[in-house]
Amino acid sequence: MNIITGKEHITPLKGSITVPGDKSISHRSIMLGALAKGDTHIRHFLSGADCLSTIACFRKLGVDIDTAPDVITVRGKGLYGLTACDGTLDTGNSGTTTRLISGILSGQPFSSRLSGDESLNKRPMKRIIEPLSQMGADIKSEGGNGCCPLIINPSKLSGIDYNSPVASAQVKSAILLAGLYADTPTSVTEPALSRDHTERMLSLFGATVKRDGLKVSVLPDPALEAADIDVPGDISSAAYFIAAALLVPGSELLVKNVGINKTRAGFLMIAEDMGADLEYLNLRGENDENGAGEPVADILVRSSSLHSCEISGDIIPTLIDEIPMLAVMAAFAEGTTVIKDAAELKVKETDRIMTICDNLRKMGGDITPADDGMIINGGRQLHGGMLDSYLDHRIAMSFKIAALASGADVQIRGADCVNISYPQFYSDLEGCLK
Ligand code: S3P
Repeated sequence: MNIITGKEHITPLKGSITVPGDKSISHRSIMLGALAKGDTHIRHFLSGADCLSTIACFRKLGVDIDTAPDVITVRGKGLYGLTACDGTLDTGNSGTTTRLISGILSGQPFSSRLSGDESLNKRPMKRIIEPLSQMGADIKSEGGNGCCPLIINPSKLSGIDYNSPVASAQVKSAILLAGLYADTPTSVTEPALSRDHTERMLSLFGATVKRDGLKVSVLPDPALEAADIDVPGDISSAAYFIAAALLVPGSELLVKNVGINKTRAGFLMIAEDMGADLEYLNLRGENDENGAGEPVADILVRSSSLHSCEISGDIIPTLIDEIPMLAVMAAFAEGTTVIKDAAELKVKETDRIMTICDNLRKMGGDITPADDGMIINGGRQLHGGMLDSYLDHRIAMSFKIAALASGADVQIRGADCVNISYPQFYSDLEGCLK
């Protein structure tokens, strides 16, 4: 069934695109570079607002970071070389900066205050305050509401064996990073495996990290040594181009240099379950000396007719940031897609269950919110309208693709918020339309 009228006038995506560096890996390369001895060189760093917040924070903590156009150089201070910052560390819109740096600051011999923008200051920090406090950290929510601003005072840390109630790489990473400053080993066990970039990068810099199923542990006081890092393309950014090429008939697009780490690649698996024609070329990376210890591939995408699927269980943490895009794809697919076990969506940059449902309904989509996900009846003809990004970068980009694939006249309020993770998103997308 041809569900979109006028689709034949919609321009296909052709040629190739290289998306910017991975956001999660870019943050971690600055943080570990700062704590290592020597100069860390980072290529293909993501210069989005979130990662620039991380750079600004570490500069305030006394780290010299040189941002040349092609390579970032972090002149590492060593594990004990950070210095007190004058005033508040501004973490902007970035949950990753806030939670990971809290782990590091818990082990410092000076006090810090962390605060971000309106959205960030509403996001839950109790999930890191609790385990870090169990390690002996003196960390408090200034307003007593479990949110930022956070005040972190010096104290001695001990290792813990933490059973995390949530599969969150930010929680896991905050604990592992604090574990570098503890007097005994630290371990974290998750209910399902979340992205493992911190573990991989800690090993790359010389820390001792061991994984046993869902449990990962780190030894304290490592001699971290500077590394050369080539950040893979961000699969979360690649997802918009892959979805666009799948949805727009006649497309054939090569998305180059995409990180395909299994703990991040759930989007690709679900897309294939939905009938996507994806070909993986030039697989490389995991053992490259100058990589980021991460697998990478070029992905050839051909337009495909998609059908519904269920997205639930342990795959959720591996695609949590791609659910807005998957929900849009489901609206174009035949049948009913069910997304569940994804209550974490409610505590992202926006409550994404609400912001996805609101925008898809404005386009005429049939979507019902649930407490831990949503149900989407696909195959409805979508129409134009005035949408709202709610200043959430992933909502803006997902609905730009919905607009493109439907050919509808769509406006998105606050569309510039793509600056958070992909400043050139609109021009890169334009460049693929041929
Ligand atoms: C991230 C982990 C995820 C993800 C976020 C980036 C990271 O958050 O949603 O965009 O870099 O560790 P949670 O750890 O809260 O699931």
